[in-house]
Amino acid sequence: YSLTVDSNRRGPAIDNTMYGVFFEDINRAADGGLYAELIQNRSFEYDPVDNPAYKPLTAWTETATGGASGTARVMNDDGRLNEKNRRYLQLDLDGSKDKKERFGVTNAGYNSGIAVEAGKKYDFTVWARTDQSSGTPLTVELHDVSDSRDALAAPLQITVRGDRWTKYSGTFTARTTSTTGRLSVTAGGRGTVRLDMVSLFPRDTFKGRTNGMRKDLAQKIAALNPGFLRFPGGCLVNTGSHEAYEAPDWERQRSYQWKDTIGPVEERATNANFWGYNQSYGLGYYEYFQFAEDIGAMPLPVVPALVNGCGENRTTDDPELLQRHIQDTLDLIEFANGPVTSTWGKKRAEMGHPEPFGLSHIAVGNEETLPDEFFKRFTQFREAIEAEYPEITVISNSGPDDSGPVFDRAWELNREADVDMVDEHYYNSPAWFLENNDRYDSYDRQGPKVFLGEYASQDNRFFNALAEAAFMTGLERNADIVKMASYAPLLANVDDVQWRPDMIWFDNSQSWGSTSYEVQKLFMNHVGDEVVPSKASSIPVPTEPITGAIGLSTWATSAAYDDVKVISADGDTLFSDDFSNGARQWTHATEHGSWKIQDGAYVQSDTSAENTMVTAGDPDWQNYDLRVKATKQSG
Ligand code: AHR
Repeated sequence: YSLTVDSNRRGPAIDNTMYGVFFEDINRAADGGLYAELIQNRSFEYDPVDNPAYKPLTAWTETATGGASGTARVMNDDGRLNEKNRRYLQLDLDGSKDKKERFGVTNAGYNSGIAVEAGKKYDFTVWARTDQSSGTPLTVELHDVSDSRDALAAPLQITVRGDRWTKYSGTFTARTTSTTGRLSVTAGGRGTVRLDMVSLFPRDTFKGRTNGMRKDLAQKIAALNPGFLRFPGGCLVNTGSHEAYEAPDWERQRSYQWKDTIGPVEERATNANFWGYNQSYGLGYYEYFQFAEDIGAMPLPVVPALVNGCGENRTTDDPELLQRHIQDTLDLIEFANGPVTSTWGKKRAEMGHPEPFGLSHIAVGNEETLPDEFFKRFTQFREAIEAEYPEITVISNSGPDDSGPVFDRAWELNREADVDMVDEHYYNSPAWFLENNDRYDSYDRQGPKVFLGEYASQDNRFFNALAEAAFMTGLERNADIVKMASYAPLLANVDDVQWRPDMIWFDNSQSWGSTSYEVQKLFMNHVGDEVVPSKASSIPVPTEPITGAIGLSTWATSAAYDDVKVISADGDTLFSDDFSNGARQWTHATEHGSWKIQDGAYVQSDTSAENTMVTAGDPDWQNYDLRVKATKQSG
């Protein structure tokens, strides 16, 4: 086994933006994740439309002290805070003048609760109004979930005055560290008090930003040293974009509209997120741009092209709607780069950033499955953007797969139209990544450049990270054609996972990088200036049998993989699965026995394989040397 480095030849230059991150609000990456807000459902907008398990009081429970009584109802009527913030909480109080009698609600935060650290400050804000001319006293307590409700900080006392929505605030200093905190807001006296946007924010956000990012998560992303930040999706971007969207019907948006995500947080609508939960937009376009700037990454927004992939093959034939989205895209560029005298540049300045954000790339569309339909619309976006902003690179895409008819047709169209850059996505087995290290060696050097906007090998084990690292050497060797690459998805809340594997995992108080995170960090922090041509003589294959129980799980859709087999060295079928026990849309884990490798063969053992797994999922994997793929799961 040898490695020969040829220092006499020059390889391609590698751009500083070669490796970046892709943030999508999937796996609750934003609310309860990167967005540092500690109160779940702060605006009472949760709804069964977001998720059948939700209701407007999700994460909230009624609470009373001193024998007080009352009712807590979520209202959606003319008394609302504003047109985009539809619902609010109405407390009808039935108390006396006794200060001990209070009625209200308690919020449970995310995961095990509200996480606070002793000595740190937490800013509380609420919008409120009361029908009591003498005012309504509010007591706000940060306490532990335990029966004794130990106070985690001195309570705040606020008096709500007047029947017009007013913002009230106060600050807690935590005296104890807890990961199971609760926030209670209780009101004394009689009458009706209305509350909305009940918020608790750590003062200590990333870079100290107001309405900012959770520090540990943002620091982990910053430590990657990413060259770019692609946002906000993913499937999230395209889905719903074809739906007619007319203000002031703000009841329930499924379509992600960047304009809804800027301005004062209490005036941002919420969204029935594509991934099955309510999305607050607290983390909006201004915050994305600012975060990109804070971590030194090039901002790279993705806008919808109105031709859906992501499981919904619907296409918009409404020229007005298309035109509106094209105009929204031009306005987005103005928001990012325009002078403070421009309409949208002014809004950026009002939010605190008069300097331009320096947007240079924008992607139109994500994983469209109808290449011809997509390309018609992409061309209209491209022409409009290039006419006004010729300096902006407009990125197209090649659909959801690494190959096949959609991919081929999309590339053909992109090539013919001399598009600058094409976004490719694939989630494949580690074997695929190892076998496709040379994928870009044969790409046409005269054609469009490649943006590998999403990729991952399908698990979060060491072997996956190793396969990705090997593959990335192939990206780098082709840095003249592959200009940017981002692993996906970036974040996952352990208690709300729609997609795995993921790069960084977290709960309400901790976060940890996967092995793939370490690989990304290694590559991103050591981007070379140029490739030095080299050659490896062979890849060593383990000769010793790997022992220990292993099992089988696959990542596949039933349509893509309808028959997976484990074959012994003698060619005997040891195990097969036709997915008859029901494949889910994105993942499939089989119920199975366990396996041992002996003398290079796989034999079935009779013990249960609860904790063990070998990655499969490639239809050709029978040809693959499983000694290399087998991994024994620890713990
Ligand atoms: O990264 C998760 C999803 O994978 C993205 O939303 C989509 O673009 C792809 O299918």
